[in-house]
Amino acid sequence: MTLPELHASLWDHLRLGASPTRSPFTIWQLATCGLDGAPQLRSIVLREADQAAGTLVFHTDRRSPKLAELAADSRVAMLGLDLDRHLQLRLNGRAQPVPDSARVQRMWSGARPHTLILYQTPHAPGTVIARPQDGQVQSQPDTDGFENFTLVEVVLEAIDYLDLSPGRHRRARFRRDAGAWQGQWIAP
Ligand SMILES: Cc1cc2nc3c(=O)[nH]c(=O)nc-3n(C[C@H](O)[C@H](O)[C@H](O)COP(=O)(O)O)c2cc1C
Repeated sequence: MTLPELHASLWDHLRLGASPTRSPFTIWQLATCGLDGAPQLRSIVLREADQAAGTLVFHTDRRSPKLAELAADSRVAMLGLDLDRHLQLRLNGRAQPVPDSARVQRMWSGARPHTLILYQTPHAPGTVIARPQDGQVQSQPDTDGFENFTLVEVVLEAIDYLDLSPGRHRRARFRRDAGAWQGQWIAP
C-alpha cells in the first residue's frame, strides 16, 4: 500500500467511526492540557469526519471542564484503537467549540434522543452531589438540554498510523503542510 492509499484508508476508518454504525473508531480517547498543566484524558464519541477539511467533530456539554481547558490551550491528542486489526491511530490537532449556531442546531436535531438526555442534567459535569440520583435527569426536566449542548471541532495537524498485524508491522506519519497532507514511513 502506498502512503496516499494508506491516508485514504485511514479516513475510511474515521468516516466509519463517525457514522451511526458502531465501529472500533467510534469511541476515542481525547487528551487535553489540564489547567494545572497535567494531562487530562477522557472518552468521546466521534460524530463527524471531514477529509477535505481535515476535521473531526464531537458533542459535549458546554459546562464541561474540557471546554475551559481548550479555551486556555486548544491543543489536543486523540487515540483510537482497533484491537482486531492491531491498528492504532494517534491524532494531534487544535480543538474549539463550533461557533456556527445553525450547525449546532442541525446536529442537535439530527441526533438520536437518548444521546441528548445527558444535556438535561441540572448539574455541570464534575459537580459534587450528595447522592448519585441527584446527577440524573429528572422525570420532568426543566429543559430539553439544548442550551448545554455544543459541538467541538478538531482541526487535525498530524496523524500517526500504526499497524502491528503479525508479519506486517507498518507505521506512517502524516502532517498537514500548508493545507496538504504529507506522509512518511517511520519505524514502528
Ligand atoms: C462510552 C462513553 C462515551 C462518551 N462520549 C462523550 C462525548 O461524546 N462527549 C463528551 O463530552 N463526553 C463523553 N463521555 C464522557 C467523558 O468521557 C467525560 O467523562 C466527560 O465529558 C467529562 O469530561 P471533562 O471533565 O474532561 O470535561 C463519554 C463517556 C463514555 C464512557
